[in-house]
Amino acid sequence: MRLVLLGAPGSGKGTQAERLADRFDVVHISTGDILRQNVKDGTELGSVAKSYMDKGELVPDCIIVDMVGKRIRERDCEGGFVLDGFPRTLEQAVALDRILKDTKLGLDFVVNIEVGDAEVIRRLSGRRVCRRCGAVYHISFSPPERDEVCDRCGGELYQRDDDREETIENRLEVYRKQTKPLIQYYADSGLLKDIDGEDSVDAVFERILSAVGG
Ligand code: AP5
Repeated sequence: MRLVLLGAPGSGKGTQAERLADRFDVVHISTGDILRQNVKDGTELGSVAKSYMDKGELVPDCIIVDMVGKRIRERDCEGGFVLDGFPRTLEQAVALDRILKDTKLGLDFVVNIEVGDAEVIRRLSGRRVCRRCGAVYHISFSPPERDEVCDRCGGELYQRDDDREETIENRLEVYRKQTKPLIQYYADSGLLKDIDGEDSVDAVFERILSAVGG
């Protein structure tokens, strides 16, 4: 199974991608997670990316395409993958077509998770992430058992820098201008499945599974 997940920031791409990768036993590739890992490790890529991420802007296409191209060519992707957060511009979508042609792989589906702005703001402003293992919580919808402590590994939970209200507004604007046109791009290619994302995590997961025949 080779899937792309599209959707606004906070629509639940990461949450659903993790479950889908588990269900289909394929690799979960999150460009946001790879970039945040680079920031944490203090790499050159991380320091360039951070200046864009903190403002809610997209990291330049050439950097992202190179990063994802390398990742998809790794051996573990031969069995399939779920792409979460890529592509995000038309240029990235065209580059992905090229990468898949070169590697003789094809996409099965592009799943577009639809969530309104008010819900996005509720989800992002309440999101907390584990510093150690990356597990994702929400202070109201999926809170940890102990405040600010990860249930999975005991690590400290924190709020992402780009989950502050001023940055969320800009991320939504960037999404509308640069990423939304991809919905038409993939509708034209016949791969698109629109999913109503304003429901529980389990209900959205079931909807995606029935759309992709899982
Ligand atoms: P990235 O990390 O990809 O951020 P994003 O697309 O803005 O998406 P999020 O991770 O914020 O949200 P999500 O849709 O994964 O939602 P989640 O499942 O966590 O990118 C960050 C930055 O990196 C970008 O701004 C950009 O600078 C850069 N970048 C990344 N990729 C790039 C690219 N391709 N090109 C250029 N730059 C790039 O859920 C959110 C919250 O809601 C959680 O708390 C969760 O618990 C909760 N939740 C999830 N589902 C539900 C539900 N059904 N009901 C209730 N709560 C729910």
